[in-house]
Amino acid sequence: MARKSGKPKAKTEEQPESPEPGHEARGTPGFEIVAREDFSDVTFLLEVRHPAMAKAARPGQFVIVITHEHGERIPLTIADFDRDRGTVTLVIQAVGKTTKEMQQICRVGTALHGVVGPMGLPSHIGDAKKVICVGGGLGVAPVYPQARAFKEGGAYVIGVVGFRNKDLVFWEDKFRACCDELIICSDDGSVGIKGLVTKGIEAAIDKHPDIDEVVAIGPPVMMKACAEATRPHDIKTMVSLNPIMVDGTGMCGGCRVKVGGKVMFACVDGPDFDGHDVDFDDLMNRLRRFVSEEKRAMEKWQENCKRLNQEPYTPDTVAERGGSGSAAAGTGRPS
Ligand SMILES: Cc1cc2nc3c(=O)[nH]c(=O)nc-3n(C[C@H](O)[C@H](O)[C@H](O)COP(=O)(O)OP(=O)(O)OC[C@H]3O[C@@H](n4cnc5c(N)ncnc54)[C@H](O)[C@@H]3O)c2cc1C
Ligand code: FES
Repeated sequence: MARKSGKPKAKTEEQPESPEPGHEARGTPGFEIVAREDFSDVTFLLEVRHPAMAKAARPGQFVIVITHEHGERIPLTIADFDRDRGTVTLVIQAVGKTTKEMQQICRVGTALHGVVGPMGLPSHIGDAKKVICVGGGLGVAPVYPQARAFKEGGAYVIGVVGFRNKDLVFWEDKFRACCDELIICSDDGSVGIKGLVTKGIEAAIDKHPDIDEVVAIGPPVMMKACAEATRPHDIKTMVSLNPIMVDGTGMCGGCRVKVGGKVMFACVDGPDFDGHDVDFDDLMNRLRRFVSEEKRAMEKWQENCKRLNQEPYTPDTVAERGGSGSAAAGTGRPS
């Protein structure tokens, strides 16, 4: 059973407290950040040079990242890989201490301290002829390599992507390039269909009664709703689970999930599972286990920011510091 202390925080008594903030994401030259793009004030992309990883990566796999020498380990999906450029792309939502720290210090030209992977089983891209690839919010990024792989395998691909509003939309161009149809959903109706991605799934199923498979990636509550939307139609529905991971190698048990009444470890048995068999309520409960520790870590980091008089993150400040902007973000983006 994993404890939060064993979680990537993996700090031992001997280790010094994280020197954040003010700590550079220097790392080794092997994990250089070659591009960064800020999609919104909480979501950003890092393209990281790692030719061996780019060569080995398959859709559905993830890496464990350590931002700096004293940073914690966090799992992040390989949202894209470009073997020619020798890079992998990560799309990150700044939700807590480490992801906010990454948002603040990961700039073009710096490097991540550690990147381990590719981890997890690659997604099974079978011989489905017609698929719906669904991404909700940040889940839009990790579902992209699967949509592309299905397309390359000759399937008819319908993309369904959901965002809270128009301003948060990203990668529409990449999805249009690999999808035969793209349905955009927004909570407020500012773009595409007004409603949740389940509405997009229903529209696609109404139009195409011969869907072989649905792949849905996003917050657990969204994946649960997608699985319920396809259950009456008996359409195979794969989801990618995001429990708290520590080692990522099946050793700690932190990422255990219940699937079809059995205990599985998402890091080695997944992260993809049949959504109709997943106990989502158990997953959501387990994700809430360390909320008070996470809050404390965040508060402590913010206090340190104040103490060092460091500007809190905004996309502008990062751009000023050379972290983003057109030169970094636009060039040779993986497609
Ligand atoms: C296989 C997998 C792939 C993921 N891919 C992405 C991705 O591509 N982009 C992205 O932004 N996020 C991804 N996540 C989630 C990401 O790992 C967490 O958001 C991150 O660890 C939060 O750390 P924090 O210190 O910023 O926030 P904290 O305040 O520590 O945590 C915020 C919330 O994130 C979750 N979380 C915390 N620690 C972990 C952990 N070690 N492992 C998993 N979840 C954790 C918990 O639900 C927690 O309540 C993925 C998770 C998994 C398991
Ligand atoms: S993360 Fe430790 S067993 Fe999966």
